[in-house]
Amino acid sequence: MAEQFRVHDRIVTYLDSAPWPPGVAQHVAPVGLAGGGQGAGSQNTLVLIHAFPMNADMWEAQLDGAPAGWRYLAPDLRGFGRSDPDQANGTVAPSMDDYARDILALLDHLRIDRAVVAGLSMGGYAAFALFRLAPMRVRGLVLANTRAEADSEEARKARAEMLDLLARGGVAAVADQMLPRLLGETTRVQRAGVQERVRAIARANSAGGIRDAIMRMMNRSDSSELLRDVTCPTLVIASDEDTVTPADRAREMLAAIPGAQLATIVGAGHLSNLEQPGDFNLALQRFLSQRYGG
Ligand code: MLT
Repeated sequence: MAEQFRVHDRIVTYLDSAPWPPGVAQHVAPVGLAGGGQGAGSQNTLVLIHAFPMNADMWEAQLDGAPAGWRYLAPDLRGFGRSDPDQANGTVAPSMDDYARDILALLDHLRIDRAVVAGLSMGGYAAFALFRLAPMRVRGLVLANTRAEADSEEARKARAEMLDLLARGGVAAVADQMLPRLLGETTRVQRAGVQERVRAIARANSAGGIRDAIMRMMNRSDSSELLRDVTCPTLVIASDEDTVTPADRAREMLAAIPGAQLATIVGAGHLSNLEQPGDFNLALQRFLSQRYGG
């Protein structure tokens, strides 16, 4: 079996070697698998769960920087990027658990028992859902630019307005509205290329995927109580120019999760991994080597 994949190739060779059994959820598209030499069943897997309204392409620099001995796996959540269309289709209440179950099915399929699970913002909400459903599968957590609380009334109202905007203006309108908030001032002023990349990634998603993601975020459970049950190694990542999830949210999680570590990325807004990829990679790599050796 081939074990080394180029970033952003769909991992067809890998998946073809073990086709999905009939009836197993197959909504996620594992667009990135980087690192190598670990084979199926390896313990050293990091799953990277993307933010809203992004897709797995946002993890390009992390997939490129996977340290030796680690396999980084970045799926497109259902309805995003190259995944299946979102089956929820607005007909049932879409839940964050859908994403969590899809990722668990992907891990099953790849015969990965336990993984370190990293999520940025909405990816963090999905990581909490996964931890709630299957804590034994989570070997560690990386909670980047995210929060444990559920949406406030005000946030739910803003989500409802975003659903209207999506219905009127499509994915491009949502992407354009969100873009200025997603990036920090340093990036907006100094790195126009990042802005354009983020816009392109966001616009590549389907309207159904965006709609159901908004509903999943609106309906998500509060995970504040869950934090004290997190006993696995945990890295919390914040950034100094993030106005969507201010660093206070990170400090609250740090205080509540026993033994958690904090890394603050300087000169980055909400999408810290894209805005300061070198520092983000370093924080990840230090955490993995300190907590898992190698
Ligand atoms: C994200 O970056 O995933 C979203 O901004 C999260 C949210 O809107 O709550």
